[in-house]
Amino acid sequence: MTGLDDRLDGLRAVVTGGAKGIGAGIVRRLAREGTHVLILDLDANAAQDLAAECGHLVSVAAVDLTDLGAVNSVIADHGPVDIAVNNAGVDQHAFFTRTTPDDWRRLLAINLEAVFAVTHAVLPGMQAAGFGRIVNIASEAARLGSRGGAVYAAAKGGVVAFTKSISIENARFGITANCVMPGPIDTPLLRSAVDKGGEGLLKAMEGATLLGRLGTPDDVAAAVAFLASREAGYVTGEVLGVSGGMGVAAG
Ligand SMILES: NC(=O)c1ccc[n+]([C@@H]2O[C@H](COP(=O)([O-])OP(=O)(O)OC[C@H]3O[C@@H](n4cnc5c(N)ncnc54)[C@H](O)[C@@H]3O)[C@@H](O)[C@H]2O)c1
Repeated sequence: MTGLDDRLDGLRAVVTGGAKGIGAGIVRRLAREGTHVLILDLDANAAQDLAAECGHLVSVAAVDLTDLGAVNSVIADHGPVDIAVNNAGVDQHAFFTRTTPDDWRRLLAINLEAVFAVTHAVLPGMQAAGFGRIVNIASEAARLGSRGGAVYAAAKGGVVAFTKSISIENARFGITANCVMPGPIDTPLLRSAVDKGGEGLLKAMEGATLLGRLGTPDDVAAAVAFLASREAGYVTGEVLGVSGGMGVAAG
């Protein structure tokens, strides 16, 4: 039986968007539990600072996740991966009628296609090893919709359906695939929305949860660490809200 001390020890992970926000919380948590982590992020400086803080277990590949060829070669060069956390994402905060096809393509490229690309790159190695954990960061927007985030919500809905499909195709290889749906989490992404929407938006976000507060990257990282661990081997195809009860609060 897997003990609490060795549930993640010695495993090898990639975390997209691991330089800041929720991703940085996930990197810190996995490294603390003994996992080797490769951060894939555009922001090389923030990623290097985090790696220096975490010590020898964390390394960095500066890559734009919308460059699917680059994603593939970085992962191929890195070697086998046990855990893939598809966390990178962007939102736009604009009513749908004010968005353009270029906006849609950019949001889908980061929030959905990059998830395909990383998963496609890591699955053959996981299948050969007979072990793997895919954890995809969706959003409560996939369940509830989002005012000012229609394309984002659609992409996240796609992430949920994709994850379930991957869980079905890969269960026989000992690979699990699950989604985490954060609610409002205090990160640079959320702060950029508040900069546009003002303090009223912040209060509305807090009020949309049962617990009446924003979440933290650590709140999400704790759920991800469980789903990524050896001890979660009988959990697959699931969607876990980490949103202060937002799904229930919305009725
Ligand atoms: N913060 C929230 O309230 C919230 C709520 C629900 C879901 N989420 C989801 O959680 C995930 C993390 O969000 P966050 O709030 O930490 O975001 P964030 O903006 O704070 O951090 C995102 C990270 O992804 C990186 N990134 C963005 N585009 C990239 C690209 N093209 N290539 C490589 N790296 C790229 C950024 O450099 C950054 O380090 C996202 O998928 C987001 O949709 C966040």
